[in-house]
Amino acid sequence: MTEPMTAPSSPKPSSPAPMSVPKFMAAKGRDKKLTVLTAYDYPFARLFDQAGVDALLVGDSLGMVVQGKSTTMPVTLDQMIYHGEMVARAATRSLVIVDLPFMSYQVSPKQAIKNAGRVLKETGAGAIKVEGGVHLAGTIRALSEAELPVMAHIGMRPQSVRKMGGMSKVQRDEASLLADAHAAEDAGAFGIVLELIPRGIAAKITKELSIPTIGIGAGPDCDGQVLVSYDMLGLTADFKPRFLKHYAELHSTVADATARYIEEVRDGQYPDAAHSHE
Ligand code: KIV
Repeated sequence: MTEPMTAPSSPKPSSPAPMSVPKFMAAKGRDKKLTVLTAYDYPFARLFDQAGVDALLVGDSLGMVVQGKSTTMPVTLDQMIYHGEMVARAATRSLVIVDLPFMSYQVSPKQAIKNAGRVLKETGAGAIKVEGGVHLAGTIRALSEAELPVMAHIGMRPQSVRKMGGMSKVQRDEASLLADAHAAEDAGAFGIVLELIPRGIAAKITKELSIPTIGIGAGPDCDGQVLVSYDMLGLTADFKPRFLKHYAELHSTVADATARYIEEVRDGQYPDAAHSHE
């Protein structure tokens, strides 16, 4: 067991001011694109926050990349709150956005408000995200009118994988994507994730909306980008969609370090004198 990390109490005077929902919205159309990464625990959230990422998304992708399940659908509200609280505690300046998981908001606007309220109250996060456009507009409006900052998510919607027929299908119906994007904005979403859509359609949506678009597999013209951090860091080595770029190869770093540890312990090389108490 290593020594526990101490929670940074407040941002250092020199660190940039915390990101808020209004600031996030104001970044639309600026030269510098918005940066978003998923985070699920304290150590990674702290590293991403200190590196200067604008927002940390506690994605329900944790069902797949943390829990090892094949979809995001089994993730519960309590699990999102558990992870959201750890991430929010680590964030000194990034805006923390927590996904509402499958079936925690689809039943009714009342259910959505109750569960979104729980998430914001119990985690300390700044906003929540839901998947949907036209069909979810009433719920997005209700959340927004209850003053709960809500981000929408259109294109490939992993919680609807059963209906959409696969996780990796690029969504190409321009008319319905534009309708979804406008419906989310009109209902009061402060931002919108565009997942797996052709770059031309993403560019058009970005031009037509006045809220920031955050792309994943949606090309370079969005107002910002989001990646699942474990994918971006190369921890999930077998997952290689076209849009993904590895900025590290943690899969091999961890495998090599573990192999060396096993070898050194088995051979009696570790712990040596330098790593032993007299
Ligand atoms: O759950 C998640 O990580 C997400 C991102 C892929 C946008 O929704």
